[in-house]
Amino acid sequence: MTDTFTPRALLVTGGAGFIGSNFIHSFMAGNPGCRVVNLDVLTYAGNLKNLAGVEKDPSYRFVRGDICDASLVASILAEENIDAVVHFAAESHVDRSITGPEIFVRTNVLGTQVLLEESRKHRDARGGEPFRYLQVSTDEVYGSLGPTGFFTEETPLAANSPYSASKAGGDLLVRAYHETYGFPALTTRCSNNYGPFHFPEKLIPLMIHNILARRPLPVYGDGLNVRDWLHVQDHARAVETVLKKGKPGEVYNIGGHNEWKNIDIVNLVCDLLDQRLGRGAGESRSLITFVKDRPGHDRRYAIDAGKIKRELGWEPAYTFEQGIAETIDWYLANQEWVAEVTSGAYRDYYDRQYGERGEA
Ligand code: NAD
Ligand code: TYD
Repeated sequence: MTDTFTPRALLVTGGAGFIGSNFIHSFMAGNPGCRVVNLDVLTYAGNLKNLAGVEKDPSYRFVRGDICDASLVASILAEENIDAVVHFAAESHVDRSITGPEIFVRTNVLGTQVLLEESRKHRDARGGEPFRYLQVSTDEVYGSLGPTGFFTEETPLAANSPYSASKAGGDLLVRAYHETYGFPALTTRCSNNYGPFHFPEKLIPLMIHNILARRPLPVYGDGLNVRDWLHVQDHARAVETVLKKGKPGEVYNIGGHNEWKNIDIVNLVCDLLDQRLGRGAGESRSLITFVKDRPGHDRRYAIDAGKIKRELGWEPAYTFEQGIAETIDWYLANQEWVAEVTSGAYRDYYDRQYGERGEA
C-alpha cells in the first residue's frame, strides 16, 4: 500500500448520476472541508435532485458542462486548484448503446481522453504537487464468463457491447497516459450496482417501478444470465479507498461475491414487494414476461475482488439481504423521485435551482 493521499479539491465528473451522487454524499460526509466540484452535463441520467442534501454546503460546487469541452475542464482544474479527479461521467446503459453507439464513443472514449489530457497538463503546471486521477470502470470490459471462474485484474479485455467497448477504450487511454506520460491514474472495475437513485431503466429499479404499477416485468431471454450485485455505497467506499490508498497505474476490481441469476433477482424483488404491499403470495411474479433476448447479451459476470481486499483492506459492508431490503424501502419511500424521473419533471429542478448560468 502507498502512503495515504488526502485530496483537498476534488473534481467529480457525472456526479448527478446514480453512482456519482451516492459517492458525493458519502465522500462529503467523511471528508469535511474537502472542496468537491461536480461537473455534469445533465443528460437524461443526470438528476440534481439526487444532490439536494449537499447543494447548500459551501464546499460543494456544481458546474453544468461537458467533459468533452477541453477549455471548460482546463478552467475548472486551474481555478479550483484541483488535486484529484474521480471520473464517473459516462453513457451507462447497454440497451441504449445497442440502438445508438455514437454517443457512447464520444462520451466514454473522447470525453475520457479530454479529461486525461487536461488533467495531465494541469498536473504538470502544478509542478511536483500530489495529484491523482481515478477512472471508474466496469467489469463488463472483461466480456462474458462461462458457468465457472472469476474476472481478475489480469483477465484480458474482451468487451462485447458498444457500452463495454467504449468503457474499455477509455480504460486503455488511462493505461496509455500512465505508461507514456507517467500520469498518476488508477482504475477501478466494479460489478453491477444497486441502491438509491438508480435510474429506472436498469433491472432492479425497473422491476420495482413496474411491480408498483402492475406492469409486465420484461426478463430478457431465459432469465438465466448472471450478474454480481454490489450495494452502491460499498462501491462509493471502494472508490474512495482506491483514490486514497491505491497505487497509481494499478487496476482494482470491486465486487460483492454476490452472484444472482436475473430471474432469481426478479422473483426476490416481487416477493419482497408483495410482503410490503400486502399483495397475495406470487401476485407480482405473475407479471413476469420473458421477452426477446438482448443482442450479444453477456451470460455471466463474477468479480474476484481479492486484490482490493488484500492490498487496501476494502470489503463490502452490506449483506445483500440488508441492501436489497433497504433499496426496496427507499423506492417505496421515494415514489415521487421515481414519478418525476419517469415523467421527465426532474429536468425542471435544474432551471429552478441554477437558472440559465449553469452553475451555483
Ligand atoms: P448514470 O448513467 O446514472 O450517470 C452518468 C452521469 O454522467 C449522469 O449524471 C450524466 O448526466 C453524466 N454525463 C454523461 N455524459 C456526460 C458528459 N459528456 N459530460 C458530463 N457529464 C456527463 O451512470 P452510473 O450508473 O452512475 O455509472 C457511473 C460510472 O460507473 C460510469 O462510468 C459507469 O460506466 C460506471 N459503472 C457503473 C456500474 C453500474 O452498475 N451502474 C457498474 C460499474 C461501473
Ligand atoms: P442492466 O441493469 O441493464 O445492467 P447490465 O446490462 O449493465 O448488466 O441489466 C442487468 C441484467 O438484467 C442483464 O443481464 C440484462 C437483464 N435485464 C432484463 O432481463 N430485463 C430488463 O428489462 C433489463 C433492463 C435488464
